[in-house]
Amino acid sequence: VNIRLARVDDLTGMQACNLHNLPENYTLKYYMYHALTWPQLSYVAEDEGKIVGYILAKMEEDVPEGEEPHGHVTSISVLRSYRRLGLAKRLMIQSQEAMAIVYKAAYVSLHVRKSNRAALGLYRDTLGFTVKDIEKGYYADGEDAYAMRLSLKHLA
Ligand code: ACO
Repeated sequence: VNIRLARVDDLTGMQACNLHNLPENYTLKYYMYHALTWPQLSYVAEDEGKIVGYILAKMEEDVPEGEEPHGHVTSISVLRSYRRLGLAKRLMIQSQEAMAIVYKAAYVSLHVRKSNRAALGLYRDTLGFTVKDIEKGYYADGEDAYAMRLSLKHLA
């Protein structure tokens, strides 16, 4: 399985992977917006030409004056039969490095469901994210989100 930068012609494959894996879905236009605005931040995992995982990421756009720029993971997922191979970890690290080096991001943020054990394992235990806040009823079905962060200062 190869990890590489996402291209515009990958976006439908990324969207298909997202639809398989998560209830949080996005328009193709929103994928396109990420790829065109921050072309260095989204990556795919590809196996024999098929997209088996992706990370869709951006820089935060409305950063108040005086605050540091930071990256944000909009969505990440890996197809079920490709899980526990380290692909999500590799996708996260590639995107984090680009956030720090290309955009001088001080940290990366994301939201995750309180009940998402696999993703919490990835973020907290493997990558070192911490919980910054709990956002009550963040998801459409009413579930709370952990707002998590990881400093990228060591990469700058
Ligand atoms: N249970 C506990 N810990 C886990 C699990 C699990 N099922 N899966 C991964 N981890 C942790 C482990 O610490 C693991 O390291 P290890 O295998 O050495 O023990 C570490 O994360 C790295 O695992 P990867 O193999 O890199 O993760 P994977 O490629 O399997 O992808 C992901 C993890 C993306 C969470 C996958 O399970 C998935 O696609 N789930 C459904 C979609 C989803 O929940 N996406 C995240 C939503 S939040 C957001 O998008 C911002």
